[in-house]
Amino acid sequence: MTYREINFFKGHPSSRLLPREAVIQATAAILGPETREYDKDPYNRHPLTYGSDEGALWVREQICTFLNDQVFKFKNGARSRTQADYLNLNSGASYGMLNILLQTTLPHNGYTRQAFIITPTYFLINDCFTDAGFKGKMTAINEQGHNSIDFESLVSALDQHEAEPQPHSTTEIIQGPKLTKKVYKYVMYCIPTFANPSGNTYSLETRRRLVEIARKYDMLIITDDVYDILDYTTPSDELPSPPLRMVHIDRSTASLGEDSFGNTISNATFSKLIAPGLRFGYHESINANLARQLSKGGANVSGGTPSQLNSMIVGELLRSGAAQRCIAHLRSVYSERASILTSALKKYMPLGTEMPPLKGGYFAWITLPPAYNAMEISTILAKKFNVILADGSNFEVIGDEKNWGQSSFRLSVSFLEVDEIERGIELFGAVCKSHAITNNIVM
Ligand SMILES: Cc1ncc(COP(=O)(O)O)c(C=O)c1O
Repeated sequence: MTYREINFFKGHPSSRLLPREAVIQATAAILGPETREYDKDPYNRHPLTYGSDEGALWVREQICTFLNDQVFKFKNGARSRTQADYLNLNSGASYGMLNILLQTTLPHNGYTRQAFIITPTYFLINDCFTDAGFKGKMTAINEQGHNSIDFESLVSALDQHEAEPQPHSTTEIIQGPKLTKKVYKYVMYCIPTFANPSGNTYSLETRRRLVEIARKYDMLIITDDVYDILDYTTPSDELPSPPLRMVHIDRSTASLGEDSFGNTISNATFSKLIAPGLRFGYHESINANLARQLSKGGANVSGGTPSQLNSMIVGELLRSGAAQRCIAHLRSVYSERASILTSALKKYMPLGTEMPPLKGGYFAWITLPPAYNAMEISTILAKKFNVILADGSNFEVIGDEKNWGQSSFRLSVSFLEVDEIERGIELFGAVCKSHAITNNIVM
């Protein structure tokens, strides 16, 4: 018997969820008229020509309204509010990440000493760190419980690096003639809300403490803020109010002088809120300094912002309200899938399986009792039943592995329909049962 593939690994929306018609309408609104009032404005420019370095001002203003007033609901005058010049538009979180590392760190001569990456991690991020020169300089930091991280290990590793004799290294080799770049001694990567893959959300206290540590050690915290708006716990017809991003906490407590750059950067994207094929996102920093630095990299000044047309399509989707409707739709679909997944896991998985509640984002991280072998189970499931699971071995920090493949899995709700989820978990449970029998595991 041949089985139709059921793929829990894919972390992107099923095709039926992609807002094709809304994108067509937004594109027509942008490109339909022969001219636009901003075509010749150097801060905006024609959608089909090279853009400004930071990206179109009117799009950045739309994003500010979206974030300040619709999502985070900051009061007028609140220090946490963002402004257009605190944003640098880019081509999504992946390129955004590489750009941050290239423009703010210098591992090659030892100036930037170490990268700290929360584990289990979004596996593709490893390659960005390697590309930027961090091979052999990546330390994995565990999460602790469902809302914190292992601060003790982080601080002790930082102290150890501080105590080591340092090579005499300056940032001279990457300074350009016009702008003095802020380069950090340490860098950290985390996903504070509805993390990929753990689904965890850090408490406010965890976020504040991280900011304090970052200030003390000259560390930049890069947060992938890509899932926080996909919250299932509030009604889908209103935009949720996610926990404060680290950049908000940093901004509202930092001294905002002319030469302050902050210790956080929000690396955000519309891939999970509208459609990943748009390849559009933004950096948000505490003030204009770091955002400007990121917009002045070599590739950016050669041609300007990397997604000029798509940024305007998203700007128009935000302006018209279509983006907000799209987010509401995604949240209601994913929320239904998450509740089917949760009840199927409860029904079919072995007693003692850990499965934290899935409250938002794409992913459930589940851990079998210790005697089971996750990698073996996922291989059998794929071979026998064409059910594809991501076992934990996929989420390691390269060079500092924690053996996540022994007993954990990540399951995504973004790609599968409810009947596939139910059937896939039923097969998953059946394979766990026969694995238990073969290996004399007490069930
Ligand atoms: C944590 C995280 N960061 C970044 C990305 C990629 O974002 P983008 O499509 O904007 O490059 C993903 C996509 O799976 C992700 O899970």
